[in-house]
Amino acid sequence: MVSYQSVRDEIKRAADIVALIGEHVQLKKAGRNYIGLCPFHAEKDPSFTVNPERQTFHCFGCKKGGDVFSFWMEYHSLTFPEALRDLAERYHVMISEGVSGHKEKEKADRRDALFEINEKAAAYYQGILNHPDKGRAARDYLTRRSVSRETVVEFRLGHATDEWDGLTQWLGRHHQDLKMAVEAGLIIGKKSGGHYDRFRGRIVFPIVDLRQRVVGFGGRVLDDALPKYLNTPETSLFRKGELLYGLNLSFRAIRDKGRAAIVEGYMDCLALRNHGLDEVVATLGTALTDRHVRKLKGYAREAIVIFDSDAAGKAAALKSLPVFLKEGLSARAVALPDGYDPDSFVNENGLDRFLGLLEDASPLFDFFLEQKLTQGDSDEEKVQVLKDIVPILSQVSHSPLCSLYVQRLSDKTNINEAVIWSEVQSYEKNPSRIAVEKDLKERLNVQKAGKRISDFQILSLVVYYPQAVPRLIDADCNLLLSDPVVVEIVNTIFEKYREGDFLPEELLETLDNPVACELLREILHRPSIYSDQDVEQAVAEFEEEAYQTKISASLASFRKGKGDAETLNQLLKLKRRKGRQDLDSKKASRREEYNG
Ligand code: GTP
Ligand code: MN
Repeated sequence: MVSYQSVRDEIKRAADIVALIGEHVQLKKAGRNYIGLCPFHAEKDPSFTVNPERQTFHCFGCKKGGDVFSFWMEYHSLTFPEALRDLAERYHVMISEGVSGHKEKEKADRRDALFEINEKAAAYYQGILNHPDKGRAARDYLTRRSVSRETVVEFRLGHATDEWDGLTQWLGRHHQDLKMAVEAGLIIGKKSGGHYDRFRGRIVFPIVDLRQRVVGFGGRVLDDALPKYLNTPETSLFRKGELLYGLNLSFRAIRDKGRAAIVEGYMDCLALRNHGLDEVVATLGTALTDRHVRKLKGYAREAIVIFDSDAAGKAAALKSLPVFLKEGLSARAVALPDGYDPDSFVNENGLDRFLGLLEDASPLFDFFLEQKLTQGDSDEEKVQVLKDIVPILSQVSHSPLCSLYVQRLSDKTNINEAVIWSEVQSYEKNPSRIAVEKDLKERLNVQKAGKRISDFQILSLVVYYPQAVPRLIDADCNLLLSDPVVVEIVNTIFEKYREGDFLPEELLETLDNPVACELLREILHRPSIYSDQDVEQAVAEFEEEAYQTKISASLASFRKGKGDAETLNQLLKLKRRKGRQDLDSKKASRREEYNG
């Protein structure tokens, strides 16, 4: 008998851990290692590394690590004997019965039996669908719903007749262990003894995992009977919060196209694939979970959620935003025209129009804002929007995304960025407390005029056009900033500049705060907002805005009897002088134009 150790070693020699993990996690070469987003915990920056020389992986975030076996077990929630069997099969390593002798073997065998009975049941339902008489009504139903023969085969669709014990009888005739069938959720024990089928009078949708094994089923009635859908109950194989319908068929296409379309229903998934959209998955009637998204981000760079146009669909789309933010997968949302779901839309309008909707999909955050800001823009509504959004923002408050979102929220609601930031920060300190409403309303009103210049504009200017820095320092343009991280970066730059040793290329090293580094990297990886021609005008605008800010602040404190007249006068004088300079330079350039 081949020893378990030698099978294990042979698999390790045959396997390439980078290729294996690379199928499920998007890996990039980084020096001698490969890195990617960890499939085992929520993260937005890669801390998951794979080392090809040692054939190991390690996550610096959650500390999970090991060899090909550990990965396979962890990723697919398997016991060691199952992983051994899978990988032996994959790498064509002969494995004789009883080789593992492992204490987990019993558990593995039990799960094998569950998979096997599911497989048998799937074959049984498929057989019924193909049966000349028994399957006719179901085949007609699928035809009416425009599901092609190829799609039926691809998804292994089947049919359960409306007899009470069709499957039960069949399993009995084939000497199957009915206890296993009960455990798999296929049949149900009667009090009076005997069993009956769970799925009756339904189209049957086998649900298949990434190892291409049947883990459970969904079933739809052929008419208006209720419940419309029925699923396998949660079993040790069937976990709705992890499974995505169709992912077993679509994961390669998702990887190739870089995106995953997420729909709500079995039929939506079938219809889109039927029309040729390969990168599609459906949730199983549950909300999208962090585990769903974590799985998807191993293949997709972006998700597009397409939920029904009804209230429930919109609510589901909104609820998914925090999940995407937490997992760091960028997401967009499609709003279907009223009355449509993806299935009816694509069947009526064709794939091209559907692809058009995908192209036009707006970022999920914008979709969220639009949905929340539908009624108008009263203060009550703004307070409500802040209440809904602040907890979500606080989950990403340490990421550059947050700054972008705060900026967008500010643009859309005309609430000052500083007010939003302070809400986010106070929520972080004390999540039970969303700003006292009255207080918040007052602040909304005070700040309504709000500043127009965003942190990003100033930061981009400072980073790409350091020659503008002295003027920005002179005008105290850091007063215009609100994002605390941006404030930190800009102040550091200003300080360095005053000290006279400012080198833009060394900027990243001069910052201690990792969040600031992250944001700065993000800015450095984008093109500059400004081109050479825009710089002069931008600086002038910032100066103007800073003067205005200082004057209003000074005026306000002066009125309260706290300010000093001297400062105010100086400011006003400065402003007049500047106004004249501007006028002069405008005249000069006009003259130049005229003469030229
Ligand atoms: P069709 O009506 O056939 O087009 O189905 P659909 O996929 O459009 O269904 P719908 O939009 O009503 O629901 C979306 C998903 O929610 C379904 O695919 C199911 O996964 C789930 N679902 C809907 N109704 C039920 C139900 O009655 N029970 C359960 N368990 N799940 C349901
Ligand atoms: Mn539908």
